[in-house]
Amino acid sequence: MGIHLPLQAAAKREVPESLVARFDAWSAEYDRTVLSLQGPYAEVFRGYRQILDRVTALVLSSLPSAGGVGQALGNSPLRVLDIGTGTGNLAQVFQQKGLRVEAVDPSPAMRSIAQAKLPGVRVRPGHFLSLPYLGSTFDAVASSFALHHVPPVQLPAALQELRRVLKPRGVAVVADIAFPTQVERARLIQRLLAEGNLQLLEGIRREYMPLVPRLIRTAEGAGFSCRAEQLTEWVWAFCLARL
Ligand SMILES: C[S@@+](CC[C@H](N)C(=O)[O-])C[C@H]1O[C@@H](n2cnc3c(N)ncnc32)[C@H](O)[C@@H]1O
Repeated sequence: MGIHLPLQAAAKREVPESLVARFDAWSAEYDRTVLSLQGPYAEVFRGYRQILDRVTALVLSSLPSAGGVGQALGNSPLRVLDIGTGTGNLAQVFQQKGLRVEAVDPSPAMRSIAQAKLPGVRVRPGHFLSLPYLGSTFDAVASSFALHHVPPVQLPAALQELRRVLKPRGVAVVADIAFPTQVERARLIQRLLAEGNLQLLEGIRREYMPLVPRLIRTAEGAGFSCRAEQLTEWVWAFCLARL
């Protein structure tokens, strides 16, 4: 039974209810988890604030008008979408930079925390496979720690959906857990086994953390140029430019 619900949800391009329930349940403790540097996920979230700052810097430096962000901020602020916003921390960094941010997340409890934190940001239900916007709406799309919830079979569709909402010269920066090679993945799994960190191990087995070259190829197939930058032992930033 456990496996049928996610498969049905995947076929319907929905986020499985079990996944939404997991994030609803985590929402109240989420910020403590990512900032505390304690618990089974600590090493994955190490450098969390710096990762969000780097994503923001990559977006700002990649935009066609980057040289003139100040100018762009004059009359019509650059529009950025944060996908899988969670408690809104990445959206908040963009807002602090003066960008016009919107955010989506499939978890109602996550959304209500993000909305309370960011009254000026519209936080809506949505997810990688279903973004509630017209085509060519955003100058940039960003996401942190969320893409690994999309099953590999749906990745091409997710990246096409992301491309759809971007303006023609738009950019996307996606930061997430990824492995450069199978060997590195195996090495990390061996280390977690040796350390007895079964909770993180279970997360890696259950979720869809991609191999870097594979994600680059998928992005290229979806109509992007893509370059990857390693941010920490676990986290990579993928910079996608719409071709
Ligand atoms: C680990 S949290 C990351 C939250 C936030 N982006 C951050 O960096 O702290 C993952 C978030 O992705 C959301 N999520 C799960 N599946 C998703 C999907 N298919 N599309 C978009 N977001 C998803 C979850 O509800 C959750 O809020």
